[in-house]
Order: sequence, then structure tokens, then C-alpha cells
Amino acid sequence: MLCIKIRKKMNKNVAILASGSGSNAENIIQYFAGNDDIDFRLIVSNKFDAYVHERAKKLGIPSYTFSRMDFEDGKVLELLKEEQIDFIILAGFLLKVPENLLRAYPDKIVNIHPALLPKFGGKGMYGSHVHEAVVAAKEKESGITIHYVNENYDEGQIIFQAKCEVLPTDTPDDVAEKVHALEYEFFPKVIEKILSEQ
Ligand code: GRF
Repeated sequence: MLCIKIRKKMNKNVAILASGSGSNAENIIQYFAGNDDIDFRLIVSNKFDAYVHERAKKLGIPSYTFSRMDFEDGKVLELLKEEQIDFIILAGFLLKVPENLLRAYPDKIVNIHPALLPKFGGKGMYGSHVHEAVVAAKEKESGITIHYVNENYDEGQIIFQAKCEVLPTDTPDDVAEKVHALEYEFFPKVIEKILSEQ
């Protein structure tokens, strides 16, 4: 018997928000290269000198810088609507997501946090601060948390976590390296799964 598998088309327009280096943004975009269902329409940053803009140029994706005020007064939302964005990925984005975006994109904004939430989350817990706190607390493990975004930092519903071991001899940089490896491995796959279910 001939069995034809009908794959559900996703056809999603995606925006990435990033404040820093953008290695996750690049990794995600590379993962979906050649996948016509997903269109990375733009990258938005709140920092004009963030390295993510260089990566965007290399990848041929438009990138923009907006101030905190632009996020809050709806300018960013306007652009996302103009570009018919369906889904938003925060990949190292440091501003709080404003109410107008949360309302326009319920359960359509995901973030990655470089620790096992609810531990080591909240205001001020970003980048190297997280890994320093993990080492200072003599944790035996750390990892990543991918979660939906709500009005509080790092408190939205958890979608996925993965763990790595923290050795007594590990420095914050060692932990960062292990956590980054988990981010690169799992963030694109988890995004793919979420998008296929939306
Ligand atoms: C990652 O560790 C991510 O978990 C956190 O910010 C970092 C961003 O790194 N939210 P990069 O800019 O993707 O290299």
C-alpha cells in the first residue's frame, strides 16, 4: 500500500530579539536554513553595537535597534505587525518584554535562560552573573530552561530543561561553556517542536 505522509506546513514568520553576541540567534537561523516553512524576518536589539547585528548582516537578515522607550510605546510592535511576525524568540535579550508585546503574542514568545529555573533567575540574573552565582552556591548541576515569557523576569511557564554537571573545580567560564553547548543543541529543536504544534 502506498503511504503518503502529509506534513503540516508551518509557514511562520519569526523575529529574534537579542542584546548581545547573538550566537544562539545565529545557531537557530543556521539550524532552519533550507526550511521554507520558517522565515526569520528580522532581528531586533536594544543595543546598536551588539555583535548580533554583524551576524545578521552575514546571514542576510535585517536587524534593527530600538530603545527601551520604543519597546514600551509600541514602535517595536508596529514593526512586528508590519512584518506579519507570528512568533518571537528571545535569545539573550535583556530588556523586560513590555505589556503591549505580551498581549499581542500570548504564548508566542519564548526565552532561554542559562540555568535551571526557578533557581538563579530574576532581575540581574543574566550572562556571567548566573554562572558566577551557580559556582558560588556550590551547585552540583546547572543547565538551560526554555520558557514562555510573561510579565515577570524568568517566571513564564517552563517548556523544557536540560542539565549539565558542575564539578567542584569548575569556574563560571567552564559552566558557561557547558550551558552554551546545551543551548546550541536544544534551543532550535525545542523551537521547531513548539512551532509545529502552534
Ligand atoms: C545565553 O546564555 C542565553 O541563555 C542567555 O543569554 C546568553 C546569550 O548568548 N539568555 P548569545 O548572545 O546567544 O551568545
